[in-house]
Amino acid sequence: MIEQKRVLRTEIPGPRSGELHQRKLGAVSAGVSTGLPIYVERAGGGILVDADGNQLIDFGSGIAVTTVGNAAPRVVERVRAQVADFTHTCFMVTPYEEYLQVCEALNELTPGQQEKRSALFNSGAEAVENAVKIARSATGRQAVVAFDHAYHGRTNLTMALTAKNMPYKHRFGPFANEIYRVPMAYPFRWPTGPERCAEEAFAEFVNLVHAQVGESNTAAVLLEPIQGEGGFIVPAPGFVKLVADWCAEHGIVFIADEIQSGFCRTGDWFASEFEDVVPDLITTAKGIAGGLPLAGVTGRAELMDAVHAGGLGGTYGGNPVACAAALGAIETMRAENLPARAKQIEALFLPRLRRLAEQYPQIGEIRGRGAMLAIELVAGEQDKTPNAALAAKVNAACHQRGLVTLTAGTFGNVFRFLPPLSIGDELVAEGLDVLEEAFAAAV
Ligand SMILES: Cc1ncc(COP(=O)(O)O)c(C=O)c1O
Repeated sequence: MIEQKRVLRTEIPGPRSGELHQRKLGAVSAGVSTGLPIYVERAGGGILVDADGNQLIDFGSGIAVTTVGNAAPRVVERVRAQVADFTHTCFMVTPYEEYLQVCEALNELTPGQQEKRSALFNSGAEAVENAVKIARSATGRQAVVAFDHAYHGRTNLTMALTAKNMPYKHRFGPFANEIYRVPMAYPFRWPTGPERCAEEAFAEFVNLVHAQVGESNTAAVLLEPIQGEGGFIVPAPGFVKLVADWCAEHGIVFIADEIQSGFCRTGDWFASEFEDVVPDLITTAKGIAGGLPLAGVTGRAELMDAVHAGGLGGTYGGNPVACAAALGAIETMRAENLPARAKQIEALFLPRLRRLAEQYPQIGEIRGRGAMLAIELVAGEQDKTPNAALAAKVNAACHQRGLVTLTAGTFGNVFRFLPPLSIGDELVAEGLDVLEEAFAAAV
């Protein structure tokens, strides 16, 4: 186990990372950028060790992936055993039990007691694409409704579903059609204030779908119960349930995209549980497999089984090594009660973030749940103009001090926290000390 301590041996990034980065510029497409070019050699608990021997505190989990921690023991053990047994057959050719075990676990862990089925894929975007395919096939309808600030991936269909142009969509069109955008119930920026946000946003949603799409043309409504890349926007209380119930009334498939919010991240196994919602379909990825590429669509059996045989799949979907990793990750989540750990992490963060907000009027809002928390930065107390410049400065100041942090948001002004749930209390406290220092240096 890596010593759980922040250690700075060189400036960040150090000389060895600098050399590797020069090689990156010559070898890797400029379209693939890196937020903090330290080159990682080992990682575990809440620490990343770079090529210069620096030890950085991880508040990002590789964008919400290493929920159980990097190289988590149960994941490593199962992956080792699986790699030695066999690495691939293609489930569509000759199947294997690990795929079944992951689907059974997904069917059991996702919200609702209804009979369910699952299918496995490689990435979040692929899961979302397949959820749309299933909803269209099951309903015989085409339109899909997505929200402002949504992020669903970078493939052609998921770019169309994603809201933000730069960097995700810019110059990459034309995009898939039959996608319709509606406002998100975003309390902090709702024109009439947060109190009426759920009710008014729902009324707008209903009117727009009715007037511009037609309920009977709508296959699915796709929603992140807490929006991820869009800025950790927590929909106004009650909004998600209103939308889900309305979908049920109109035979529209309600898809919860829990790729970022799922698997213990928010203090529940899935964020939909907090909203008291049972999605028709749920997409998962990221935290599911402790860092290996795996994604799933899980949902009501009659929807999942509506697709013709051979209609879903892919060469690598549900690869046995990725499945073994998922079984190790899920076992860890159960054994270590990681939903509870996410709540403890929230309790460590919130008082410190509130203290920071008292000091800096540029912190407009603190939001999120569990270990999926964010602060939105604005111009000042009376001015909600997004302050992306400050977010970038604080981020850079954290990086220089050995804290891996991420920004997000349609306007680039949200600072988000996604620590691995394997991080210790002391590292959380130290990371928050660094954040305070970074604010003091940046403001
Ligand atoms: C909510 C959500 N959906 C879909 C995706 C796309 O997942 P992937 O990057 O694995 O394709 C992401 C990734 O950030 C996400 O946060």
